[in-house]
Amino acid sequence: MDKIKWWQKTNVYQVYPKSFLDTTGSGTGDLNGVAEKLDYLKTLGTGAIWLTPVYPSPMVDNGYDISDFTGIDPSYGTMEDMERLIEEAKRRDIKIVMDLVYNHSSDKHPWFIDSASSRDSEHSDWYIWRDARPDGSAPTNWRSIFGGSAWTWCEARQQYYLHTFAEAQPDLNWENPRVREALYEAANFWLDKGVGGFRIDAIVYIKKPEEFVDGEPDSEDGMVNIHTMIAGTPGILDFLHEFKEKVFAGHDIFTVAEANGVEPKDLPHWVGEKGVFDMLFEFSHMTLEFPNGELWGQATGYTPAVISGLKKVLAASQKATAENGWYPIFFENHDQMRCVRHYFPDDAPKVPAAKAMASILLTLRGTPFVYEGQELGFGNVAWDSIEAYNDISSKGQYELALEEGKTAAEAMRIVHRYSRDNARTPMQWTRGRNAGFSAGTPWLPVHEDFASECVETEAKDEESVLSFYRHLAALRQHGEAADVLQQGVYEEVLAESPAILAFKRIYGRREVCTLVNFTGEVQSYALPELAEASLLAGSMKDSVKGILRPFEAQIYMRETR
Ligand code: NOJ
Repeated sequence: MDKIKWWQKTNVYQVYPKSFLDTTGSGTGDLNGVAEKLDYLKTLGTGAIWLTPVYPSPMVDNGYDISDFTGIDPSYGTMEDMERLIEEAKRRDIKIVMDLVYNHSSDKHPWFIDSASSRDSEHSDWYIWRDARPDGSAPTNWRSIFGGSAWTWCEARQQYYLHTFAEAQPDLNWENPRVREALYEAANFWLDKGVGGFRIDAIVYIKKPEEFVDGEPDSEDGMVNIHTMIAGTPGILDFLHEFKEKVFAGHDIFTVAEANGVEPKDLPHWVGEKGVFDMLFEFSHMTLEFPNGELWGQATGYTPAVISGLKKVLAASQKATAENGWYPIFFENHDQMRCVRHYFPDDAPKVPAAKAMASILLTLRGTPFVYEGQELGFGNVAWDSIEAYNDISSKGQYELALEEGKTAAEAMRIVHRYSRDNARTPMQWTRGRNAGFSAGTPWLPVHEDFASECVETEAKDEESVLSFYRHLAALRQHGEAADVLQQGVYEEVLAESPAILAFKRIYGRREVCTLVNFTGEVQSYALPELAEASLLAGSMKDSVKGILRPFEAQIYMRETR
């Protein structure tokens, strides 16, 4: 019997459906578009697709504001399309993983509409309502994650409601057992449809503190990030154990929860046998530029310190998950800038940078998550004005940066780096019109250099980022290195190097060693044990053992006895 589960051996591919493939000419992607590309996804070793929300939604936060937890938004298609997608994927041994957004709903959800209608309504206590302070102001000085107060006034109830994110995303009241039951029921609806797992959104916020008090302001607006005040409130695990028992337990699925701020020491309570989930997305490698919480205006931008920071936090996550749970390896998602810009100086060429990150992603211990476009080496975008941006958090952070005294030009530079739209531009399939994404007008512009960065071009080029991803995905799943890459223990190598990130994977008599130069200078390394090792993959032609050219990655394998 296999020692590891199906989802530990496979790669997960994250689809942001709105930007994946439009089959109707509407300008936004749809479920049939995902179904059409299943064979393509298979070439990347994909065994599961994480679909970001496709439920009915007013799209204030592109689907993370849900108005029906068991429906499909018409812009994505129908429930039949969804069922067909699940079926077609299954035929290719691919599971569909749904995104559960259970901290909040849309303000257009019937539960909220009823709750907001009066204090005596059926759903009155399904959300978090508080009276104003005596002067009429909001109950606390908490800033929502997208900017502005986390409280919005409701005339009908003469009360404020709490929203960790946008005003249109009121937080559900998990203290109410009827709310929890309704949410579990919706998740079970999807299990009955045959989904292979769940990504669970913003889970650290579901439990709120008993008392709501002001926090120490962290910016010029006199407010404090709500994250500081509510994330991981004690008692949260009781809710989550109930969630596990009523939904996940006994199913051959995987769960991965978005858990910004859970510390490695707490991991055993959250993941693995005694924990709740199979994996946790933690964000220590995503927040290296944020010394003071995720306030974009206060970020450091790229500095060489990112290299040592990345080394440190990746090693710590590997250590933390060596025995507890399993690590979901990711460098991109729909909320982050593209990794070729995140971890490299601005002038770093994209192809080697993309291959460098691929080398780590596909050889580290854990389940790799590839985000659409990452396998083509997409970079960031930089549009002229804030109006050109769709992302709600870009708008909020832009305003906050202005309030902190930044000029409009400075605030735009910040948006260029951190905007979530960097990850949301359409997928690039062909060299044709709109990169083959849509016959209509794409909802966000396609990158200008799409002709060189698209599936059609890259599939024909052996040296492309896409070909490299396919090669590494195959190594991870078939052949001599597969067991080592899937099951081998992790050991850090060259820990003291300020320039090279390196590690070994060891399984039985085999060892794989990955080395990546994160700088624009040639670096040498001395690892005598690699003398007999053979090169499994290299990001550049003609690699030389002991030397890494700028941004080069090398992956070796050797027999140890
Ligand atoms: C995290 C999601 O990844 C993000 O896109 C969303 O805006 C927030 N949670 C709110 O649901």
